[in-house]
Amino acid sequence: MSTRIGILTGGGDCPGLNSAIKWVTKTALDPLLAANRKEKFEVWGIRDGWRGLVEVDPKAPDSVQRWLMPLDELLVRTWDRSGGTLLGTSRTNPFSRQNDRSEDVLKNIKALGLDTLVVIGGEDTLGVALRLHKLGIKVVGIPKTIDRDLNGTDYTLGYDSALNVITEEVDKLRTTAGSHSRTFIVETMGRHAGWLALEGGQASGAYIILIPEWDFGVDRVCQLLMRRRDTGIRYSIVVVSEGARARGEKEHYLSDRADGFGHKVLGGIARFISREVGERTGLETRYVVLSHLQRGGRPSAQDRLMGRRFGIAAVDLILKQDFGRMVSVLNGEITSVPLQEAIAELRIVDVTRFYDTERYNGRRSSLLP
Ligand code: F6P
Repeated sequence: MSTRIGILTGGGDCPGLNSAIKWVTKTALDPLLAANRKEKFEVWGIRDGWRGLVEVDPKAPDSVQRWLMPLDELLVRTWDRSGGTLLGTSRTNPFSRQNDRSEDVLKNIKALGLDTLVVIGGEDTLGVALRLHKLGIKVVGIPKTIDRDLNGTDYTLGYDSALNVITEEVDKLRTTAGSHSRTFIVETMGRHAGWLALEGGQASGAYIILIPEWDFGVDRVCQLLMRRRDTGIRYSIVVVSEGARARGEKEHYLSDRADGFGHKVLGGIARFISREVGERTGLETRYVVLSHLQRGGRPSAQDRLMGRRFGIAAVDLILKQDFGRMVSVLNGEITSVPLQEAIAELRIVDVTRFYDTERYNGRRSSLLP
């Protein structure tokens, strides 16, 4: 009898997911490794995240074929080069208060003979994994989110590819901003954590960076922009996180509709700043929302590599029978932390260490207190 691993990706997609799926599959099924193991494996991909386990009817072969996909080494061989997730994803929450389907999920896991789940996701998806674990399911988590806001790990899949998108897009904006002497406000993702804006802004040399962890003054932004303009510099780039707020204001949302985890879609802060700065300073402003471009495209080398390292570690945890944990990287070493710790709180930007609240940019000191 072999151990049947079910693997799924949940929440927002990003580059690096397919690499993790490939390396879970290859490590579990590798004939050389298998020769020295007592345990043999099968790997089944579950389609569209938790939705697959909610919707599947284990008794109906068509349904099983629709929601599950047997994975083998040959099939996943080239997956690491593509972005997105070839298993599909969703923001389905089986524990949703409006429509709790957790009993169905538990029944389906049993009926499908899934012995272990490898769950690739951020705080919402891994939160579901933890609840299932507490109900007796053997789960292992792999961290993913371009926001890089999971606790207990220095890296989450997708972050580096997203940073590269921000850097490339800002590089493109520079030429047109310079030609027209314009100020560009660039909105990045980052719901609660400003890492993407902060590090994307620093990598792309943005003049001002605004993050959710520090409410900014619109007047201060205008003052900084005018000061720069007065030195003769023709254009400025402001990078702002979608979750950032002007002092005394709320976040900007695109709509009031919430997903199964209660999140509304953020958006609109760049437009707000562009209008305010234009009106208050007379500078010619434009805004760009990078939106899902940050989650698109091919994975960077870092995301392929981390997908591989996390995927291999996930199988190691299964072999060690060490469940309820998330693989992670801390200080350059692959390790694991309890899922409980990973989602206990969000890892947001420590403003004192990393942010200059006068300059509205990264702190220019690393080794001094
Ligand atoms: O959670 C990751 C994330 O990319 C956030 O930065 C962003 O707010 C959200 O997902 C967008 O989600 P969706 O793809 O559902 O619009």
